[in-house]
Amino acid sequence: MKDFLQLQDKHIVIMGVANDRSIAWSVAQSLHAAGAKLIFTYRQERSAKKLNKLLEKNEMDAAVIQCDVNDDESITSAFAEIKEKFTTVHGLVHSVAHAHKEDLNGDFIDTSRDGYAFAQDTSAYSLVAVAKAVRPLMAEGGSIVTMSYLGADRVLDGYNVMGVAKAALEASVRYLANDLGPDNIRINAISAGPIRTLAAKGVPSFNEILSKVEEKAPLRRNVSAEEVGDMTTGLMGALSRGVTGEVIYVDAGFNIIGIG
Ligand SMILES: NC(=O)c1ccc[n+]([C@@H]2O[C@H](COP(=O)([O-])OP(=O)(O)OC[C@H]3O[C@@H](n4cnc5c(N)ncnc54)[C@H](OP(=O)(O)O)[C@@H]3O)[C@@H](O)[C@H]2O)c1
Repeated sequence: MKDFLQLQDKHIVIMGVANDRSIAWSVAQSLHAAGAKLIFTYRQERSAKKLNKLLEKNEMDAAVIQCDVNDDESITSAFAEIKEKFTTVHGLVHSVAHAHKEDLNGDFIDTSRDGYAFAQDTSAYSLVAVAKAVRPLMAEGGSIVTMSYLGADRVLDGYNVMGVAKAALEASVRYLANDLGPDNIRINAISAGPIRTLAAKGVPSFNEILSKVEEKAPLRRNVSAEEVGDMTTGLMGALSRGVTGEVIYVDAGFNIIGIG
């Protein structure tokens, strides 16, 4: 059983560490504990600085490469650098999303054309683009995990355009699973419960959502980023080898509740 959990020397790309609160950072710690060799990508220099400090503090040795998922050239050059340095990749964690702040306030109906396109491009299409870029590097098969949220299925005040982007992200997971399956590449989404991160600050009703979950979720609590990290590690390893195209909830069971 233990061997199934081992990711010893597996090369895993992690996209989306902005700071120590990022879900991707908890994912990194869990994967590191399982023995994986980590390759990080970042967008802003500010994030790279924070990430490098975190790596130093935790005595973790990893590659850190710039990749802006809104920019095809940046994706191409990041994965060319990964190929040059590592040849093969076994896993990829896509923990990236963004929408314009003004599109998370007020009514969804007022979303601008530009704001809608930007949220889709950054938060959903980016998964398609990076899956395509990493595919040739996953010659031995692989596993891709992305982060979604309940706003893909249900209406949550203030989640607005990001909910629609998450719906597209989850549908993309299913179509990508069908394309990548013959290459023994699996892809799944984790639908995480609310976690206090930089991105979560943009959701105006976030505090209300946290207290509702604590009150109503079957486990009567919120989840931690560590719990999402551990599920990601599970999806990277052989214990989950028969699972692809799924949305897996790590939300203390909140999604199953009807009228509470
Ligand atoms: N926190 C929650 O409650 C929650 C719940 C469910 C799902 N999620 C999802 O989890 C994922 C991670 O979010 P988080 O909560 O951990 O927040 P976070 O720490 O703010 O991470 C978001 C990351 O997205 C990156 N990013 C944004 N635009 C990018 C671009 N164009 N190219 C490359 N990277 C870009 C940011 O990089 P820079 O900072 O360098 O720009 C940042 O590292 C997101 O998909 C989010 O929707 C979060």
